[in-house]
Amino acid sequence: MRTARFTLDPAFTTGEVNPRLFGSFVEHLGRCVYTGIFEPTHPTADPAGLRQDVLDLIRELGVTTLRYPGGNFVSGYRWEDSVGPAEDRPRRLDLAWRSTETNRFGLSEYIAFLKKVGPQAEPMMAVNLGTRGVAEALELQEYANHPSGTALSDLRAAHGDKDPFGIKVWCLGNEMDGPWQTGHKTAEEYGRVAAETARAMRQMDPSVELVACGSSSQSMPTFAEWEATVLAETYDLVDYISLHAYYEPQDGDLDSFLASAVDMESFIENVVATCDHVGARLKSRKKINLSFDEWNVWYTSRWHEIENSDARDWPEAPRLLEDNYSVLDAVVFGSLLIALLRHADRVTVACLAQLVNVIAPILTEPGGPAWRQTTFFPFAQASRYGRGRVLDVRVDSPTYDTKKYGETDLLHATAVRADDGTVTVFAVNRSRTEPLPLEVALSGLGLTSVAEHSVLADEDPDARNTLEEPERVTPHPAEGTSLNEGTLSAVLEPLSWNMIRLA
Ligand code: AHR
Repeated sequence: MRTARFTLDPAFTTGEVNPRLFGSFVEHLGRCVYTGIFEPTHPTADPAGLRQDVLDLIRELGVTTLRYPGGNFVSGYRWEDSVGPAEDRPRRLDLAWRSTETNRFGLSEYIAFLKKVGPQAEPMMAVNLGTRGVAEALELQEYANHPSGTALSDLRAAHGDKDPFGIKVWCLGNEMDGPWQTGHKTAEEYGRVAAETARAMRQMDPSVELVACGSSSQSMPTFAEWEATVLAETYDLVDYISLHAYYEPQDGDLDSFLASAVDMESFIENVVATCDHVGARLKSRKKINLSFDEWNVWYTSRWHEIENSDARDWPEAPRLLEDNYSVLDAVVFGSLLIALLRHADRVTVACLAQLVNVIAPILTEPGGPAWRQTTFFPFAQASRYGRGRVLDVRVDSPTYDTKKYGETDLLHATAVRADDGTVTVFAVNRSRTEPLPLEVALSGLGLTSVAEHSVLADEDPDARNTLEEPERVTPHPAEGTSLNEGTLSAVLEPLSWNMIRLA
C-alpha cells in the first residue's frame, strides 16, 4: 500500500475548536431519560433519581452542551407540564414517538442533571414551534431565565428553583421542514414564526443565542432553498442555522458507508455557502455559524417499521432506536467527528444524537449495568484531546472506489494543536483489508515524541459491546509509531480509528 502523507505547520490553521463541538442530546424518546439517566429505583440512583453509574460514564465521555427536550418530541412539548410537583404533572400522549410521557423528569430535573454532569455541561433548550408559537416560547424563557418579581419567575422560585436557569442557547423548533414533524411548515411559514419568536425572545434578553432550523438532512428536496428562505427572514435575529445528518449502510454498501464523512463535509460546505450567499445579498458583515445539533450513525429501518405500522398502544419509555454499534460503525463515527473538527471555523456547536440508550454511546439495563458502546471511545478521546486550534490538514492519500462518492481517500484525518503546543492527530483508515502507512511532516511545531497512539480496530469489524460482554471492544496501543527528525511514522490498522498524541 502506498504511504499516505500530510504536512502540519503552525502557520496554517483552520480555526479554534469551540468546546460546544462536543455537545450531545437528551430527548424524551424511548429510554434516553427514563431508565437511561433517570431511574429512581436503580441501586445507584441518587436522591434525585439520577443513575450515578450513568453520570460517571457521561463525565468520562466529556460532553459539553446538552440539547433538550427534543427532537421531534419538542414539537408537541408543553413546558408547563414538566414543572412543579412531580406527582401533579399530567401524563400526555407523545405523538412523535407514539409513547406516553409521564413528565416525571422535567425542566428543573434537566437543569439539576446538568449541574451534576459538571461545570462544562451547558443547557441548550428547544422551544416548540410545531403546535405552539411566540407566546409559549416567551413564557418558557421568562420561567427559566427571569430572575424574579414576575408571575412566571416567581412560580419557578415557588417550585424550588430560586436561581434562574440561565439558558443561553435556544433552538427555534426542530426539523420544521420534515413532513413527519407535528406542525410541519413551509420555509416561508417557518421563517416568519422563527423571526417573530427570535425578535420577541431578544426583546426579553438581547444576549440569547438562537438557532434557526435548517434542513433535516442534505437529501431533503427543499435543501438549500429552505436555508436561504429561512435566513432571508431571520439573518439579523439568529446566530446559528442547524444541520442534522445520520448515516447507515445502504444495500450492504460498506465502502460508501465508510466514506459518509464525504457527505457530511459537503453538507457543511453547502450550508456555509448558502449562509454567506444570504449574507452577501443582505450586504451584511455578520456571519451565521453552524449548529450541527444532530449527527450520528443510525440504522433507521427498525424505526421506520414502527412508524409505518398502525400500532397505537402508547407505551411508557419503550425500547426505541437502541442501536448497538460495531467497530465498523465506530470508525465511521470517528470520521464524522474528524469532519466536524475540520470545519471548526464555522461549526461552533455540535450535538451527538443522542446521549443514553437512543442511538447512544452509553447503553443501560433497567435495574442493571451501564456500559460503553464502541462509539464512546472516539468521542471521549476527541473531546479530551481535540481542544485548541485545528491545523490545516490536506492529505495525499491512496484512494478507493465508492459507489456513492466515487474515488475517495483511504485516509481521513485532522490535527489539533493545544495551547501548550502539543498536537493530537485523529485519523481513520477506511480500508477494510489493508494497513495504511502514514507519514506526517511536522516541521516548526517543536514536537519530539509520541506520547500515545491509541487505536480502535478489531479482527472482527462486527464486534460490539453488549450486556453479556460490555468490554469486548476497547482501544489498544499501536506498535511501532515513531517521531524522528520532524517526521511522524505510523501504520494505521485496517478499518481503524486512531488518536496519536505528540508532545
Ligand atoms: O434523534 C432522533 C430524531 O431524529 C430526532 O428526534 C429528530 O429531530 C430526528 O429526526
